Amino acid sequence: MSESKILPLPLHFIQGQRQNDKIVVQRQPQTMYNILNKQNLAPSIKEFQVSCPEIAKKAQPGQFIVARTDERGERVPLTIADYDRDKGTITIVVQEAGKTTSQLGRLNSGDTLSDVIGPLGIPTHMEKRGTVACVGGGVGIAPVYPVARGFKEIGNKVISIIGARTKELVIWEEKISSVSDELYITTDDGSYGRKGFVSSELQRLIEGGKELGLVFAVGPTLMMRATCEVTRPYKLRTIVSLNPIMVDATGMCGACRVSVGGKTKFVCVDGPDFDGHQVDFDQLLSRQRIYLQEEKKALEWYNSVHSQGRFK
Ligand code: FAD
Ligand code: FES
Ligand code: MG
Repeated sequence: MSESKILPLPLHFIQGQRQNDKIVVQRQPQTMYNILNKQNLAPSIKEFQVSCPEIAKKAQPGQFIVARTDERGERVPLTIADYDRDKGTITIVVQEAGKTTSQLGRLNSGDTLSDVIGPLGIPTHMEKRGTVACVGGGVGIAPVYPVARGFKEIGNKVISIIGARTKELVIWEEKISSVSDELYITTDDGSYGRKGFVSSELQRLIEGGKELGLVFAVGPTLMMRATCEVTRPYKLRTIVSLNPIMVDATGMCGACRVSVGGKTKFVCVDGPDFDGHQVDFDQLLSRQRIYLQEEKKALEWYNSVHSQGRFK
C-alpha cells in the first residue's frame, strides 16, 4: 500500500507529500469522503464537516486539501479550517467563487466528495513572538482560526483582526474570539465593527502603540498586499498564506509558481506561507487572472445546465 508511484493515477488513489525535497506519491485505498454536516454561514459561504480520518489525524494549522466533487471534476484547493482527530473529520469553509465552488456549495449532509487529498503544504511555523496579530479577510477569516489557536496554545498573546465587505459576510466571530485575547472587526460598508479594511485597523493598532512580534495574514491577495504595506515601514515580520491557482498540488505542474525574494517558489509544496515583504504580489495577481475568460464560460455553462435540472 505504500509503494511510491509517479502520476497519473486517479486522484483518490494518491497522497503527495514532500520528503527530503522529493515528492512521494503513495497509493491509498479508495475512500468515500462523506459530508457529515453542512452550515450556510452566509449566502455564498458554506461550512462542511467531511469525514477524512487519515487527514484529520495529521492536519496542522496552515495546511490545505485538494478536493473534487466528482470523478470528472476540477481540483480545488481549500484550507483545513479545523479538524477533529477523535471524530476523524475536517472542516472546510467554501466561498462560491465560480463553477466548482458553486457546485460544492450545493452539496449537503449525506453527499460525498469523490476525492480529497491532504494534508498538503507546510504547516504554519509556530513560534513565540510575544504578541501575534492574526488578520483574516473575507473567507480568509476561517483559515485564521487554527493558526490563531496554534499561536495561543504555545503562549503568545493573540490579537485577531477579521473583516469582510458587509455584516452578513463576517463569519466565525465566536470561534476566532475563543482563541484570541483581543478581537477587532471591520466591514467595508461600516454595517458591523469599524468601517474600513482589516489593514487600516492593523495600522490603527500599530500607530496606537500595540507592540507586535508577528503578523499573520490570510485572505484576498489585495488584502494581504495592503497588510504587508502597513507593516513594511516598521520592519514587522509578516507571514502571508498565498492562494495562487493550483492544479496538481504536488510541485510538478508549475501552476502555483510565485516569486519570493526574487526566487521561484511553488506554493503547494514550498508554502502556502511566505514572508509577505518578499512576495511579488503583482505577478501573483496577474497569474490569478490568467483563466478569467474560461472561468466565466464554465460558470455560465454550469448555471445554465443547472437551471435546466441537468446537473447537480
Ligand atoms: P473559478 O471561476 O474557476 O475561479 C475563480 C478564481 O479562483 C480564479 O479567477 C482564480 O483566481 C481562482 N482559482 C481558480 N481555479 C483555482 C485553482 N485550481 N486553485 C486556486 N485558485 C483557483 N477558497 C475558499 O473558499 N476557501 C478556502 O479555504 C480556500 N483555501 C485555499 C487554499 C489554498 C492553498 C488556495 C491556493 C486556494 C484556496 N481557496 C479557498 C481558493 C479556491 O481554491 C478557489 O476559489 C477555487 O479554486 C475557485 O474555483 P471555482 O471553479 O469555483 O472558480
Ligand atoms: Fe502544480 Fe503547485 S499546483 S506545482
Ligand atoms: Mg474553476
